[in-house]
Amino acid sequence: MMLPRCAVSVCHVLVLVLCLSAAEDFDWTKNNYGSFYYGTFPAGFSWGAGGSAYQTEGAWDQDGKGLSIWDVFSHRKGKIQQNETGDSSCEGYYKFKDDVSLMKELKLNHYRFSISWPRIIPTGIKSDHVNEKGIQYYDELIDTLMENKITPIVTLYHWDLPQVLQEKYGGWQNISMISHFNEFANLCFEKFGNRVKYWITFNNPWSVVVEGYETGEHAPGLRLKGAGAYRAAHHIIKAHAKVWHTYDTQWRGRQKGFIGISLSGDWGEPVDISNQKDIEAAERYVQFNLGWFATPIFHGDYPQVMKDFVGSKSVQQGLGTSRLPTFSPQEKSYIKGTCDFLGIGHFTTRYITHKNNPSGRSGSSYFADRDLAELVDPRWPDPGSEWLYSVPWGFRRLLNFVKTQYGNPMIYVTENGVSEKMLCTELCDEWRIQYFQDYINEMLKAIRDGVNVKGYTAWSLLDKFEWDEGYSERFGLYYVDFRSKNKPRYPKASVQFYKRIISSNGFPNQREVENWRRKSVETCSSSNQLLAAEEQRSTAANILRLIHDPLTSHMEMVTEIVVPTVCTLCILLSAIFLMFLLRRRN
Ligand code: NOJ
Repeated sequence: MMLPRCAVSVCHVLVLVLCLSAAEDFDWTKNNYGSFYYGTFPAGFSWGAGGSAYQTEGAWDQDGKGLSIWDVFSHRKGKIQQNETGDSSCEGYYKFKDDVSLMKELKLNHYRFSISWPRIIPTGIKSDHVNEKGIQYYDELIDTLMENKITPIVTLYHWDLPQVLQEKYGGWQNISMISHFNEFANLCFEKFGNRVKYWITFNNPWSVVVEGYETGEHAPGLRLKGAGAYRAAHHIIKAHAKVWHTYDTQWRGRQKGFIGISLSGDWGEPVDISNQKDIEAAERYVQFNLGWFATPIFHGDYPQVMKDFVGSKSVQQGLGTSRLPTFSPQEKSYIKGTCDFLGIGHFTTRYITHKNNPSGRSGSSYFADRDLAELVDPRWPDPGSEWLYSVPWGFRRLLNFVKTQYGNPMIYVTENGVSEKMLCTELCDEWRIQYFQDYINEMLKAIRDGVNVKGYTAWSLLDKFEWDEGYSERFGLYYVDFRSKNKPRYPKASVQFYKRIISSNGFPNQREVENWRRKSVETCSSSNQLLAAEEQRSTAANILRLIHDPLTSHMEMVTEIVVPTVCTLCILLSAIFLMFLLRRRN
């Protein structure tokens, strides 16, 4: 039956009003911190941990794998701390059975990992060649997980684009990535979809486009300021939608799975919640990050505020059109609603205030487009990565924001965790226990607020290659000794603590939770001893190696003994000289 035209228009207006009112629901002016909440998660809540292919697998050139942009980028000098690479990383390719045992020990319900595109399609182009050995590896990994009743949650793109696609087409700058990615995804559904029921198309596309195409800190290392990131994001959003439709029309009927995307969502809190300008700036911060991808996927187009800001800056810069690309009406309806669940990767929060960035002064840039400044509270703990401050209440705020903006979607927290510094070989990671306890508790409060969170993924199972930071930041529940060839894993205290949260499905009461903390820290001292013994052994081995290698030993002696000694002597002599001068003056 055809509806009269005016009825259709009334419906449109109603839908628009509903969307607008939903978007206005989030209350920026109320931040209800609340005290610790003892209680449990809904039955069936899924507890997991995660990792990704390039960060953990190693075996970068083994068994027919092609090169990825990260293989090439990390081999270029000066791109990664200490010029480290993911060549061998945790050797996860060889040790996955051991790792599944660790997951079992933790009693995980799910494990999140990614498939390396060039491991199964070496050039990225399916018609070139499919690498059976790569398929076999993921087959075995998935089977081992299933045998242990651990649900695989699989990411198709965790940043390791085949290098050939970068060289031939310019990677995500080029629209042809959409069909190549779709073919890869389709192959994964065909080969693994009988067992994998949770698919994530892209992991954290914000990082892919901003760090890969704007700042160049990540592979492919391009600095196409103010335009490259928007273009790459445009293609990624379309590629996501295409793959969702492929699954929806060709596989869902048989395989009965879910397919979503994992977005990074740092929270932005207005510096002054009574100041409208700060509120608007904080909203811009979130919209230019999470909203950039979530709004097209849930509502069909970019956030209005992005269109306004990038548009007017582009005009001021004398450009004929906005640097933010546009979707056609057909594309909007094709993209809208392509998400069965939303993955959220959340680590930290910033305070946000309005700050004018007059356009043109420093050229165009994604960061300048937002007209804001980011601040941190110096009292916030920051145990590891420079950017990662522990602000648990930001997590609840973000989850509530997602609920109100996108119609309370099904959410899986796909990443949450904290790092420590490389040189810290301390397995008694009390700060991580604190972080997990508080962040998981805020997630519980959000569920009480009505947010539809179905699962939580601690990031990460193992210490691993941390992109441009190399191995200098350790996110793992398990410590990995990267200096040892066999890459042994040692449990940190947080393993025991997380295990208890999982087995109680939450936080029973204060006495019990305090007990967990005490016991977790007690158990780690024996692992600490093991690790210390191993370290002494490898230090001794290194000394022996140095004795046998006079050139290296000479150079190390210069940097480790001669330079510090000379510096100390200089400082001492200057001090004596100064005292002498002062005395003479008196
Ligand atoms: C988000 C990325 O997806 C993940 O790979 C990385 O380990 C974490 N951020 C921590 O930096």
